[in-house]
Amino acid sequence: MTPLHTETLAAPAGAALPRPGTLADVEGWFFGQDQLLFDWLLTHQARTGVRGDLLEMGAYMGKSAVFLGRHLNPGEEFTVCDLFDSTPGDEANAGEMARSYATLTRRAFEANYLAFHDELPTVLQGPTTLVPERVAPGSCRFVHIDASHLYDHVRGDLAAARRVLSPEGVVALDDYRAEHTPGVSAAVWEALFTQGLRPICVGRSKFYGTWGDPAPRQQALIMEIVGRGDCHADLQTIAGHRVLRLISGHGLAAPELPRSRYYETLRAEERAAEEIRRRRADTDARATAAAQEAEAAQRRAAGRRPKARARRAALLLLPPFVVKGLRRLRNRG
Ligand SMILES: C[S@@+](CC[C@H](N)C(=O)[O-])C[C@H]1O[C@@H](n2cnc3c(N)ncnc32)[C@H](O)[C@@H]1O
Repeated sequence: MTPLHTETLAAPAGAALPRPGTLADVEGWFFGQDQLLFDWLLTHQARTGVRGDLLEMGAYMGKSAVFLGRHLNPGEEFTVCDLFDSTPGDEANAGEMARSYATLTRRAFEANYLAFHDELPTVLQGPTTLVPERVAPGSCRFVHIDASHLYDHVRGDLAAARRVLSPEGVVALDDYRAEHTPGVSAAVWEALFTQGLRPICVGRSKFYGTWGDPAPRQQALIMEIVGRGDCHADLQTIAGHRVLRLISGHGLAAPELPRSRYYETLRAEERAAEEIRRRRADTDARATAAAQEAEAAQRRAAGRRPKARARRAALLLLPPFVVKGLRRLRNRG
């Protein structure tokens, strides 16, 4: 979901790279309901032997990409396409970028991703028009469209998704019904009426569809939903297509992701560096205290010296019997 107002998400200029401990710490718009739907659809593919690559158009700071990367199997490729810090090709897209993603950087995306995965995905930095030339036709089993939310771009992204998806492939499309993204709604329903896109499911934020047979995926989702007490579903028909609607509160969430070895190594290094800093500060504090003590002792000694000198001078000047008497007195005291 793109924000209407993103000021609250803006990181201060020159801020350190993020180091998230959980997915909730990663900035973005990938909510519990969709985490579960991604999980169910991708797990169903794995269970039924559907293999293929993963593609995300529009990664922002990596919230959904981090999640998708968890479902990558050996031999599969995950490609992420985003403008990140590069300039969009057209004015409308530039306006959208300036309004919504002004603080985005590729480095921040990479730092977030590496907190949960040991390797980065293949990154296409640039507009999603790169996808058809860089991703092989029919190679993907899952495509997430969440880049520009303007009608012409989403239309192009849907066409690219159709081209790169296998028949068992699933497309997830963000903001299909949000008030501020009518272009996405127009593009998705147009694809349904004229481009053979078939709905699997809709939720609060995303539309899930396929250019293959939606029935087995719908069946799999129903099996997941009936086993839970925190959500339910209804079935509607749109122009002869069955659409499953997932209904839930905001509390839904997929299980937390473990952090990567890379993240744990960085944290261990940070903790070791912190320990060295603490010990150094400790040694410095002790050295300062010792120096202060020595200085104070010196000052005390310097204060005593004139008295001692004066006493020695007096002893030399006084008559011997007086000196003797004084010594006796001192020895007695
Ligand atoms: C809504 S955000 C993505 C959110 C992300 N999927 C998440 O889960 O938090 C949209 C992203 O699309 C990117 N974007 C916008 N227009 C684009 C374009 N024409 N081509 C590629 N990426 C684009 C922006 O840089 C931004 O990172």
